Amino acid sequence: MPDTFNRKDLLGIEDLSVEEIVKILGSAASFREVAERDIKKVPTLRGKTIINLFYEPSTRTRTSFEIAAKRMSADAINIAVASSSIKKGETLKDTALNLEAMSPDCIVVRHGSSGTPQMLARYLKCSVINAGDGLHEHPSQALLDMLTVSNRLGGIEKLDGLRILIVGDVAHSRVARSNILGFSKMGAHVTVCGPPTMIPVGIEHLGCDVNHDMTAAVKDADVVMMLRLQLERQAAGLFPSPREYAKLYGLDSLKLKRAKKDVIILHPGPINRGLEISPEVADGPWSLILEQVANGLAVRMALFYLLLGGVKDGISNANKSLNPDGVRLLNLR
Ligand code: CP
Repeated sequence: MPDTFNRKDLLGIEDLSVEEIVKILGSAASFREVAERDIKKVPTLRGKTIINLFYEPSTRTRTSFEIAAKRMSADAINIAVASSSIKKGETLKDTALNLEAMSPDCIVVRHGSSGTPQMLARYLKCSVINAGDGLHEHPSQALLDMLTVSNRLGGIEKLDGLRILIVGDVAHSRVARSNILGFSKMGAHVTVCGPPTMIPVGIEHLGCDVNHDMTAAVKDADVVMMLRLQLERQAAGLFPSPREYAKLYGLDSLKLKRAKKDVIILHPGPINRGLEISPEVADGPWSLILEQVANGLAVRMALFYLLLGGVKDGISNANKSLNPDGVRLLNLR
């Protein structure tokens, strides 16, 4: 089998090949099984140290990277930015170099500034995983979204030709950007939808279409991905009122009636109930929101495995120990 995963860092979907995405999703499918065991732990990363460095709030991503590390027997350390020396004026580079002096194998970083993980990856010898950088990318979210859809449909190849509708605050969404890139690479047709103030000019260059009429766009979609309104990143005045936004771009049962019978509803979370998604849709049978969270754990275990599983002297050997079905040599049993 050709070597399809041999990299130090996971910084974005943009620089992943289709083969690498297939490799990650295939490995993640194997790791789903670990969560169903009584003893949810495998020895794969015993002796490895993983640091979570989150400069922005997070529930799903931070917890999921931490649990993923612990389930693989790695030591997981969370840096609480609010009580660290970052508050005393230490630069990001100094913080990272000081952390690296303690010999971690991987730093998982979330930061409000786009490009932070890329910068750290240049300075650090250990692996860096992007857990969300500014408005740029959130690669593990897009991977878990692709896994969720492919699991529901019965295979990664089912993503080819699928129609994905991404609705909401696309301009401020790293999730949207990673998903446009990811689903397009896998052969899906992506449309973004939202008020003109929330759709960046030229977004089509990423490989998607634009439709501002949600009621019309929802009809053709196999998957509707609702985005959180990123009120903390927005300037005021992008939409007249929450009520009007919900009416035009919120997913409620009225708009859902126009969708395909077996439409898949996704949302990266956290959700603003009643704003971008109504409670009956978020909790209804079409929604895979909690399935996304469960798949996030499997994807993050797969990322740790592929990045750290066989790293020796800075050279990744992970792929050399991964057989085609991705299971037997993972030492899961
Ligand atoms: N989807 C996501 O990134 O959620 P958190 O902000 O809770 O990590």
